[in-house]
Amino acid sequence: MDSKVTIFRLDPRVEQASRYETYLVPEEGWMNLTVLDTLRYICEHLDPGLSFRESCRVKAICNICMVRMNKKTVLACDTLSTAEMLIEPIENYPLLKDLVVSFSDKPITGEDVGHFEQG
Ligand code: FES
Repeated sequence: MDSKVTIFRLDPRVEQASRYETYLVPEEGWMNLTVLDTLRYICEHLDPGLSFRESCRVKAICNICMVRMNKKTVLACDTLSTAEMLIEPIENYPLLKDLVVSFSDKPITGEDVGHFEQG
């Protein structure tokens, strides 16, 4: 079974309006994998232009991979993918591109961490 993954897309440097792209991801790209693994799969196999952040790649060390999954803030590296997902950038941070936001003006705080919901 494919996973239907819909992702917010916008490059504010060259686009004026955001859009949502939907990808059908085969089981090898999502089943028993994290959201971060699925984003990597999409980037490697379906859309190399997709931008997202990762750093430590090991469950909840750096917090850089925060995204909104089905309207809840999660760590992409610590949340399992599902058969249907809406992935968006986290709120209240300046958008740089797609799922990448800037933390330079507003460092990640304990308040942000409190909004995490484990998948
Ligand atoms: S990549 Fe570091 S917490 Fe997810």
